[in-house]
Amino acid sequence: MSKVLVTGGAGYIGSHTLVDLLEKGFEVVSVDNYCNSDGSAYQQIQDITGKEVKNYVVDLCDQNATENIFKENPEISSVIHFAALKAVGESVADPILYFRNNLTSLVNVLDCCRKYRVHKFIFSSSCTVYGNALELPVTESTPEQEAESPYGRTKQFGEKMIQDCIKGTDIKAISLRYFNPAGAHPSSKMGESPLNKPQNLVPVITGVAKGSIEKLTVFGDDYDTRDGSCLRDYIHVMDLANAHSLAVSRLDQDLAMVHFEVFNLGTGEGVTVLEAIEAFESSTGQKLNYVIGDRRPGDVIAVYSDLSKAKNELQWTTKYSIHDIMKTAWEWEKIR
Ligand code: NAD
Ligand code: WQD
Repeated sequence: MSKVLVTGGAGYIGSHTLVDLLEKGFEVVSVDNYCNSDGSAYQQIQDITGKEVKNYVVDLCDQNATENIFKENPEISSVIHFAALKAVGESVADPILYFRNNLTSLVNVLDCCRKYRVHKFIFSSSCTVYGNALELPVTESTPEQEAESPYGRTKQFGEKMIQDCIKGTDIKAISLRYFNPAGAHPSSKMGESPLNKPQNLVPVITGVAKGSIEKLTVFGDDYDTRDGSCLRDYIHVMDLANAHSLAVSRLDQDLAMVHFEVFNLGTGEGVTVLEAIEAFESSTGQKLNYVIGDRRPGDVIAVYSDLSKAKNELQWTTKYSIHDIMKTAWEWEKIR
């Protein structure tokens, strides 16, 4: 079993992936500077798995400190690179922050992979690279559109930078393009803990139900969708976590056909905002206080994935439904 360096391991998707990796017997080490987390995930991971995770509190934009992690852990054979800033609106207001953090950290990690002969690299990408997708469902070969935000551009640039940096090396890379991650660990011991005011639909829904947010505003009900509200592909965070373990195994077993592979990670099914509300209410028995509001600028109307490539080549299947997403998110929200 290889040792996996998980960057951004204290964050939402990184922490759930650490649980999945540990449960599958991988050795792990983490790095996170807590710029969007507080470190409590490591205790939660230990509560769930019984295993302690070593975390380096290092800013990956610091080249020397990043390099020290690789020097101290020569047994690292793969990297899953989650660490990034991810707030779309903030990236519009402060693009330099996003380019500096997301691209510099990626450059430093790739540089270390080249120097320390770490030949397996997995990147957190996003359906945001497709922009207003030209076709639905979105396949990996659906053409990318102009990025909607500097954040989205860091994902498009990031994928290109990886391809350039691994050219002529033994490094193989997999880019995983997540659709809309949501939900919490089914034990209720771990979930999403946004440090700032939640913006994404599911944490807003659970926040409203808990009373920490006054009401949910549905951003538009006059779109060309089946009920007029926007449609997305919500994917449970533990299904996503499992895909990362499968991606590491794929690279460990040298099954990747080309040096750079891309996989969509979604359920293949679209859910509208109004259907998501209904799913929350019926799976939790909670009534939601919501109003219909204006469209949110920059929102795409509808996006959902074609997941056949991940199914066929990663042997990835999804286990959790939109109801499971709502239920697990709510169970976590109640106690956190
Ligand atoms: P998150 O903010 O919860 O986790 C990211 C972690 O990275 C945080 O703990 C943060 O402290 C850390 N980090 C950021 N910059 C760092 C740096 N320079 N050095 C060290 N640590 C740093 O976010 P998440 O939702 O878990 O997202 C993980 C990855 O998945 C990100 O790359 C994100 O862009 C991508 N992604 C997320 C979503 C989503 O909706 N959550 C969707 C698609 C893609
Ligand atoms: C989902 C739907 C909203 C909040 C974002 C990023 C994307 C990716 C995933 C990282 C939309 C509606 C929301 C609310 C609402 N992240 N909504 N009221 O915008 O699909 O994607 O997260 O890569 O890059 O842009 O996710 O959860 O914000 O919105 O009506 O209070 O819920 O309009 O239709 P989005 P979201």
